[in-house]
Amino acid sequence: MNPLSHVAIIMDGNGRWGLKNKNSRNAGHKAGLITVENIIKHSIQRKIKFLTLYVFSTENWKRPKSEIEYLFALLEHFLKKKIGEFDKNKIKLVVIGKKKFSNKLNKLLSESEKITKNNSKIQINLALNYGSRSEIIEAFNKLYKKKIKINERSVSNSLYTKNIPDPDLLIRTGNTKRLSNFLLWQLSYSEIFFSKKLWPEFNEKDYDNIIYEFRRIKRNFGKI
Ligand code: IPE
Ligand code: IPE
Ligand code: MG
Repeated sequence: MNPLSHVAIIMDGNGRWGLKNKNSRNAGHKAGLITVENIIKHSIQRKIKFLTLYVFSTENWKRPKSEIEYLFALLEHFLKKKIGEFDKNKIKLVVIGKKKFSNKLNKLLSESEKITKNNSKIQINLALNYGSRSEIIEAFNKLYKKKIKINERSVSNSLYTKNIPDPDLLIRTGNTKRLSNFLLWQLSYSEIFFSKKLWPEFNEKDYDNIIYEFRRIKRNFGKI
């Protein structure tokens, strides 16, 4: 059985769910937050140590302003409400991506990271204003400036994910099969599962079914 320490998730399908059920994309984002909470709790139960959630990509700035504003207001509200509970449950929050939001949100994110930094039950990486290509370019630039030789280890150690293992498992919901600029370097050997369900519909049972299948895959890493 494969060990499972790091799960990465592309939480896709909120907008479609919202349009279908409440005639509003934003309602889908709100509903998606309930799934976020459930999946965090379930990850802890399944003893997963790292959970990386794709919340907002560098490309998502191309969306209408009203949707972007709603998303960040939602995130702000969620963090303010939940940070105490996260801390109590020994959850460590880390932001991966460039913190270039409103001063208020930047501050809230930094504070949330600070408050939870010594927690060790699970690390949740929130990929926010995250893009894998820009992450890799930044890594190369850092190495170039410091005159450090570029190799697999030095590149890995210059990414946002420097201290954590690569994802064992990637899940994308929303019935779309693409990576959308997510963890392109780190996913080199991850097992990939696509769920047809929209993110607000995805539940613990769906998660468990994927974990069950994942555990039984013969992972080769190039060997036989
Ligand atoms: C994913 O859901 C959440 C974010 C990108 C913020 P979408 O908003 O992309 O939902 P669909 O894919 O349009 O249904
Ligand atoms: C990927 O979903 C980003 C997040 C889930 C945050 P998108 O809905 O933005 O991806 P594309 O644009 O359809 O590829
Ligand atoms: Mg989408």
